[in-house]
Amino acid sequence: MTQAFLDVRDLRVQFPTEDGLVNAVDGVDFSVEKGKTLAIVGESGSGKSVTSQAIMGLINRKSAKMTGEVYLEGEELVGARPEQVRSLRGKRMAMIFQDPLSSLHPFYTIGKQLAEAVLVHQKVSKSEAYGQARDMLARVGIPNPERRIKDYPHNLSGGMRQRVMIAMALLNSPELLIADEPTTALDVTVQAQILDLLRSLQAEFGTAIVLITHDLGVVADMADDVVVMYGGRVVERGSVQDIYYRPEMPYTWGLLGSVPRMDVDRGERLQPIPGQPPSLIRLPKGCVFRPRCPYHELVPGNRCDTDRPDLEPITPEHAVRCHLEPAQRREIAAERLTARGGNVAGGGADPDNPTSTRRTEDSTLRTDPASTASPATTTQEDPK
Ligand SMILES: Nc1ncnc2c1ncn2[C@@H]1O[C@H](COP(=O)(O)OP(=O)(O)OP(=O)(O)O)[C@@H](O)[C@H]1O
Ligand code: SF4
Ligand SMILES: [Mg+2]
Repeated sequence: MTQAFLDVRDLRVQFPTEDGLVNAVDGVDFSVEKGKTLAIVGESGSGKSVTSQAIMGLINRKSAKMTGEVYLEGEELVGARPEQVRSLRGKRMAMIFQDPLSSLHPFYTIGKQLAEAVLVHQKVSKSEAYGQARDMLARVGIPNPERRIKDYPHNLSGGMRQRVMIAMALLNSPELLIADEPTTALDVTVQAQILDLLRSLQAEFGTAIVLITHDLGVVADMADDVVVMYGGRVVERGSVQDIYYRPEMPYTWGLLGSVPRMDVDRGERLQPIPGQPPSLIRLPKGCVFRPRCPYHELVPGNRCDTDRPDLEPITPEHAVRCHLEPAQRREIAAERLTARGGNVAGGGADPDNPTSTRRTEDSTLRTDPASTASPATTTQEDPK
């Protein structure tokens, strides 16, 4: 069997706390090929950031238990020595962090930090390293990079810091880039500029990108494949077309419902998925989405309460974790589609670019679960 460039298998991360063991990542599997982008979506607390930190070897093993396998071009990282994983970071794999301050040192200038990142991995002179730092600052849209390299992180606005961090991650043209909410603090123009930069890096170097975002418009624009996470587990995965046009998991239906329709008043309030995300300390015995799922009664024998559904393949690419029969899922999907009046995008999205017609600032999965949408609102039209 050929192995993907990044191959994550049964990844688990547990944090012991005073209240009990937090199962932040609970058996996650996915893979990404070179030159491809995988988006990870899910409500706040579903384990997206912990998954990416685990891949990058950034989980503190003294305060967390981590098991499973992560292969980077065949090299296993979970069982590898910390220094071995450290030597891969920056050059072979890099991460854009959700919190810009977490990767910038407050005591050093931006220029010094970026130049150091170049010098660790490239045999170049100091002035060449500073030159690369300046060029990359310009590419991420920082005006006056000559002056900015002398600034300290606290001299910069949040948006500027985020761009510096993006520059840091891109400096050594990593083969794997994990971008955790890379454009959240940026305005729409800069966001588009950064996404273009990621695309050109990918085209030039065949970078594999794992993109974590709450913005479904960004997912549609950037991703080849999508993983939907809930309660530390992958509950559905597939191509971007599978997830936008043939979603089969009740939770995915809820997430997609948070995308506003173009043919209704923009003031329409997005409906939350009723209920709260699960406690990761006392996970339900059966399906982790059971307390919020309006469809559990359709499954005979209370299986949603007692049996954990497996992630079952529907096609080689598309897999779903749900006890409903496939025919039942499709029937519900069709009903919801009719109720929605066409497709979830409203206004007829292009099947090859699922949200191309509705790329708006509103097309985000809000981190606050109370602002994501109701599963009663939608599913999508099959383009075929
Ligand atoms: N060091 C830690 N100790 C205990 N629990 C933790 C730790 N780090 C993360 N968690 C918990 O693990 C869960 C998953 O967190 P994670 O940061 O991966 O969520 P996320 O999906 O990235 O959410 P968001 O969309 O808000 O960024 C959360 O419940 C979080 O509280
Ligand atoms: S397994 Fe049951 S509770 Fe879980 S999503 Fe499917 S129907 Fe809902
Ligand atoms: Mg996060």
